[in-house]
Order: sequence, then structure tokens, then C-alpha cells
Amino acid sequence: MFRYTFNFQTQTTARLKLQRISLSHCYDLFELYSNEEIIQFTDNEPHLRVAQTRRMIRNFEKGFQRGEQIFLGISLLNSEKIIGVIGLSHLNVRHQFGVIHFLLAKPFWNQGLMTEAVGAMLRYAFFELKLQRLEGQVYTGNVVGCRVMEKSHFQREGLLRKNFFIQRKFEDSYLYGIIWTDVLSISEPNGTKLPQ
Ligand SMILES: CC(C)(COP(=O)(O)OP(=O)(O)OC[C@H]1O[C@@H](n2cnc3c(N)ncnc32)[C@H](O)[C@@H]1OP(=O)(O)O)[C@@H](O)C(=O)NCCC(=O)NCCS
Repeated sequence: MFRYTFNFQTQTTARLKLQRISLSHCYDLFELYSNEEIIQFTDNEPHLRVAQTRRMIRNFEKGFQRGEQIFLGISLLNSEKIIGVIGLSHLNVRHQFGVIHFLLAKPFWNQGLMTEAVGAMLRYAFFELKLQRLEGQVYTGNVVGCRVMEKSHFQREGLLRKNFFIQRKFEDSYLYGIIWTDVLSISEPNGTKLPQ
């Protein structure tokens, strides 16, 4: 079976650093994943114990070693504290496909930071991993998540009916996708026109 072998070096943007997550980041991640307001629109259950976060980090590492997923911690350039997470999952070499995920600590919302992190992830996904297609599913009520996808040049491709269980109800999601030719049309050869 063909799998990715990641050769990931810490990436920087104008304001952010994206680095591999290790167990030393456990308490920073627990702060994020135990906060219901942050994780309510994601696939995660709120973490009640640090042990859950530790298990999640070990699973990130297993997925990384298997070449199936890469989850990165986001910090400000001048800090080691992880304030957000951005990841690619379901990576598939044959189909050159992946799915994007992201979340950020509330004090940092609405400063354009996640759009900046997504720009770095797009550069990595399309110029390093050479994906053909990246997609993301966003609950239709998550207007901010939708806005980040749109600002990052993803196209809304469809509606996934009742594929998201939130607040004890099945809800719809939008399917967003971006493909290699979209990236080329908004990029210099090295991806410099993507959000920096
Ligand atoms: C989604 C999330 C990562 C966005 O991070 P962020 O750094 O605040 O995003 P940005 O600042 O890059 O962009 C936010 C955009 O939403 C807009 N926005 C914020 N609140 C809004 C509202 N109530 N209605 C409409 N737009 C809104 C902002 O104005 C901004 O758009 P603009 O640049 O055109 O003005 C963050 O809110 C978060 O972690 N949410 C919880 C987890 C989550 O939903 N993850 C996504 C799952 S698909």
C-alpha cells in the first residue's frame, strides 16, 4: 500500500509557527479540547481529563507514522504556547486527497490568524504533498468556519444532508473543496499568493 512519508519542517507565516505536536503540548491542547465553545463545531467530544488529550496526541503520532494524517500545533512566532490546531486527515496517495481540520483559542479569533494558518497548510498540501484535492466539511451554522474556507479559496461544492450530529440533532454540512488547478490560478510557482 502506498503511503505518504512526511518530511515536515516547522513552517512559519507572517505571525505564526506551525509545528508537530508532541506530548509536551498536552496541557495547551487540553485547554483547547476541553472548551466546548471551541470544539462544538468539530468532530471532537469535549475532553474531561488530560488523559484523553494524551491519547489524542498519541493517535496524531500514529497517524503521522502511518502517513495518513498530519496535525500541527499553531503558536505565535514569539511563543511556544499552542493556541490552535490545524490538520490534514484521510490522506491518500493514490487519490492524492486529504481533508482539512482547524480550531483556534478564542482570544485569538477574528484577527485573520486561521486564514493565515490555512494558507500555510495549502502550500504544504499542494506543493510538498502534491495533493490533487483537499476538502473540508463545515456545519452550515458555523458561519465563521465557512468564511475561513471561502477566504482560503475553497469552493462550496454541495450540501451534505444530516451528516453532523450537534446539540443532539443531526444537522447539514457544506462540502468545501479546493483542487490543484485552483491553487495554481491563485499562486505564484511557490505559492506566494496564498495567505502568508
Ligand atoms: C473557525 C475559526 C478557526 C476561525 O479562526 P479565526 O482566526 O478567527 O478566522 P479568521 O480571523 O481568519 O476569519 C474569520 C472570519 O469570520 C468573520 N466572522 C466572525 N464572526 C462572524 C459572524 N458572527 N458572522 C459572519 N462572519 C463572522 C470574520 O469577520 C472573518 O472574516 P473577514 O476576514 O472577512 O472579516 C475559529 O473561530 C474557531 O476555532 N472556531 C471553533 C472551531 C471551528 O469552528 N473549527 C472549524 C470547524 S470546520
